[in-house]
Amino acid sequence: MKRRSFVATAGLVGLSPMATSQDYSDYTKDPRPDVAEGAWTAGGPDGPVFAGSPVVSGPAAEDICILQPVQRLATGYLEYAVEGGPWQRVDSDNVGLAPLAEHVLKFRLPPLPPGKWIRHRVVARTAGWIKVRQFYHGEFKVGEAQTSEVSRFRTLDHGAQKTLFVVWNDTHENSETLKDLNLLTNDYKPDFMLWNGDQSNDVHFENQMAGQFLSPGGLAIADKWPLAFVRGNHDCRGPAARSLVDFTGTPGDRFYYGFRSGPVAAIVLDTGEDKPDDSPYLSGMGTFQKMAREQAAWLNEFVKTDWFREAPHKILFCHIPLWFDHPRIPGSKSNVASNIRDLCGPTLVEAGVKLVISGHTHDFLWMPKKEGQPISQLVGGAPNPKLATWIFAEATSDALHLRMSKLDGTIITDVTI
Ligand SMILES: [Fe+2]
Ligand SMILES: [Fe+2]
Repeated sequence: MKRRSFVATAGLVGLSPMATSQDYSDYTKDPRPDVAEGAWTAGGPDGPVFAGSPVVSGPAAEDICILQPVQRLATGYLEYAVEGGPWQRVDSDNVGLAPLAEHVLKFRLPPLPPGKWIRHRVVARTAGWIKVRQFYHGEFKVGEAQTSEVSRFRTLDHGAQKTLFVVWNDTHENSETLKDLNLLTNDYKPDFMLWNGDQSNDVHFENQMAGQFLSPGGLAIADKWPLAFVRGNHDCRGPAARSLVDFTGTPGDRFYYGFRSGPVAAIVLDTGEDKPDDSPYLSGMGTFQKMAREQAAWLNEFVKTDWFREAPHKILFCHIPLWFDHPRIPGSKSNVASNIRDLCGPTLVEAGVKLVISGHTHDFLWMPKKEGQPISQLVGGAPNPKLATWIFAEATSDALHLRMSKLDGTIITDVTI
C-alpha cells in the first residue's frame, strides 16, 4: 500500500483530525486519474446554448418564472422590461451561486405589475471545467455570451373585464396533437394557458424533460402568455419525476396554488397518482395522502383570500376528475380523485366553486351538477389526434362561456355558466 493511501485510511478510523482533511496534492483521490490533462471533466467547449423556446410559468403576475431550455452545461441570467422600460436583470441564485444547469435555466421574477406587456430574453454562456495537472475540476471556463430572441407576454390582471383561456391535457408527448393544439392556441391568443396534466409518458431522464414539459418538438407553447402547470399521474412516475420542479415554475414550486385572471379565480390541485398509496403498483413510493391533507389545509385558508372570494367565476383545475360516471368507461376507481374530493369537496362547494375542469380519462364528458355531484365538471383531452380535445373559454363578469372541440374544430361541448 502506498503511504498516502494508508494515511487516508487511517484517518477514517479515527486518528488525528488532520489526517482526514483532503490532501490536494494527492492525485489518487481525484476521480478518474486516467483522464488526460486539459480534458473537459464537466460541461464542454463553447457552442449553441439554447434549445427551444422559453416558457413563462406562473401564471399570476406576482408568481412568474421563466424557464429557458439549454442544450449544454450553461450559466446565465434573464433580462425583462415592463412595456417600453429599461432592461432589468434577474439572477437565479442558489444560496449565492449563479445557476449552472445542463438542461434548463430557471429564473423567478419579482412581482410584476398587472396587465402589462413584459419583454424577456436570456443571456447565457456555456460553462465547464477542464483537468489541470492532478486537479480533476482544475479550471473553470465559460463560452461567449449568447442572447436569446426577445419574447413578450402580458401579465394577468385581476381587474380585467374579460379573460380568455385555453386548456390542454393528456398530450402524453404526442407530437401531432401538440402541434395542432399549439396552432389552435396561437389563433385564440389566450390570456393564459393551463396544461392540465399527463404532459409525459412518465419521467425517465432529465435530458428529455425540457422536451416533455417546456418546448415539445421545439414548439413555443408559452412564451407569449403565461402557463399554469398542473401535474398529472404520469408526471409522478419514473426515476426523474423528482426533478419536475426544475422544469416547472409554479408558485412556491408546489403543484397546488391559486391565481386570478379578470373575472376568473382559479384553484389548481394536485391529484397525484391514480392509485392509493398502499397499492402494490406504487411499491410504497407514494405519499399522496399526506399531500392531499396538506392541500386541504392550504385550501381552507386560501378560499378566504379577498380576490378569490370576490371573483365572479371560481374554477378548480385538477388532472383526475372528482366525479366520474362515464357511460363508456363505467366503474373505474382510478378515474376519480376520491381522496381529494373527500378532503376538499366541502370547502370547494362552500367557497362557491362552480366548475371542475379535469382530464385523465382520455375521453370527453360534460357533467352538469346533479344529486351527489354538487359542482359541474368538464372532462376532456386525449393524446391520439383523432380523440384529442382542447377547451377554450371566455369569461366576463356576467358569463363563463366554455367550448370544447376536437382538433379539426368540431365542437363537442358549448356551455355558458
Ligand atoms: Fe393521461
Ligand atoms: Fe392521467
